[in-house]
Amino acid sequence: MADIAQTLDFDSYWMPFSGNRQFKANPKLMVAAKDCHYTDADGRQVFDSLSGLWCASFGHGRPEIAEAIAKTAKTLDYVPPFQYAHPMAFELAERVKNIVPAGLEHVFFTNSGSESADTAIKIARAYWAHRGRPEKARLIGREKGYHGVNVGGTGMGGIPGNKAFFGDMLTTEHLPHTLIESNRFTRGVPEHGAEVADVLEQRILEHGADTVAAVMVEPMSGSAGVIVPPAGYLKRLREICDRHDILLIFDEVLNGFGRVGASFGAELFGVTPDIMTLAKNLTNGAVPMGAVVTSDAIYDTFMDTERPHHAVELAHGYTYSAHPLACAAGLAAMDIYENDRMVERAAELAPYFEDQLHALRGAPHIVDIRNLGLAGALEIETAGEDPTYRPWKIAQAAWDRGMYLRFGGNTVQLGPPFIAERRDIDFMCEVLDAAIRSVD
Ligand SMILES: Cc1ncc(COP(=O)(O)O)c(C=O)c1O
Repeated sequence: MADIAQTLDFDSYWMPFSGNRQFKANPKLMVAAKDCHYTDADGRQVFDSLSGLWCASFGHGRPEIAEAIAKTAKTLDYVPPFQYAHPMAFELAERVKNIVPAGLEHVFFTNSGSESADTAIKIARAYWAHRGRPEKARLIGREKGYHGVNVGGTGMGGIPGNKAFFGDMLTTEHLPHTLIESNRFTRGVPEHGAEVADVLEQRILEHGADTVAAVMVEPMSGSAGVIVPPAGYLKRLREICDRHDILLIFDEVLNGFGRVGASFGAELFGVTPDIMTLAKNLTNGAVPMGAVVTSDAIYDTFMDTERPHHAVELAHGYTYSAHPLACAAGLAAMDIYENDRMVERAAELAPYFEDQLHALRGAPHIVDIRNLGLAGALEIETAGEDPTYRPWKIAQAAWDRGMYLRFGGNTVQLGPPFIAERRDIDFMCEVLDAAIRSVD
């Protein structure tokens, strides 16, 4: 590593969501990735316990994806997505539509989860405006929610540290989160707490349903540390939204394409939203891409406009929406998703993952263990004032032991690739145990 590190100007690159000063004093550089491992700059194999950032879930370095990207780069590097298109955009939209739950029928492409969140918010408001009800504009998120870092998603999100210093973003309000004291150390879906959803009805009645556009939640909150919705909670949200004619948006950027041990949170919990946001596994992380999928009712509202035939129905989109390289990667990723039975692989490994993770109970500092599918988190008791300090230390200790470990807030988070084997889960939990025990 010394050799590579010495060639780099560490000051030029302002790293995102990073402790730049700490990293640059002690860089962790990855130079290759294959299956469940990174190779670091010292040539060490480092286990990837979070599938990158929950996005390379089908395993790193899939040759099918690499070949599709390379072929497309040589033949169709770019097509403007405004007023023009290329066939792969339609092919991928159809694939996605066939994979998401029935009732979600129309796919709008973005380049990230954050763009998907902001796109969904704009579609929701424009939908009501097109239906002649522009006063239905109020937006409701949930505490501890994460919807990326653009203005809309920052506003809708409910992790206080992500909102500090930025002034007023979008005006929103937040439902309570569903972390309930008595649910600590629950395996999978907690039994208690569906009634937390009822706060939505109170808020709607306070404000008047005719002022509320949409509610946005992650089915399982990932970034706040795998907060699994109590049984029946999402169904109640759906019923309340239906009763008051309010759109329900599921942010499945992290949940989607198998992470929860089912294709989507919507499928696992038997609740279909009006709008679903996607990204991450859509291309297996190989090219940035996101998507927003809507119901017929929403799409048709835009298409049934009285405006002239050539008029733009939704004044929204990105230079790189449906980029050919992203579509090529997405089509190859969806082939892998289906042909390699990615959801089944995740679901098959999930009980073992759950057992091994919960076997860590009793190790020092762990005050909760939560899991769903191949997502898990350990909540770490705060040392002193700063809840992030111990998780950060644990992640450093894991790196020293050959594992990339994500820390966020007062948790460390696990999301191994779906192609992981039981021995990888064993390694992951051994490293976790040793890393946690090494920290004061
Ligand atoms: C639920 C959810 N929404 C949105 C995002 C933002 O995605 P991106 O970082 O691609 O903008 C994330 C990223 O972790 C996420 O987990």
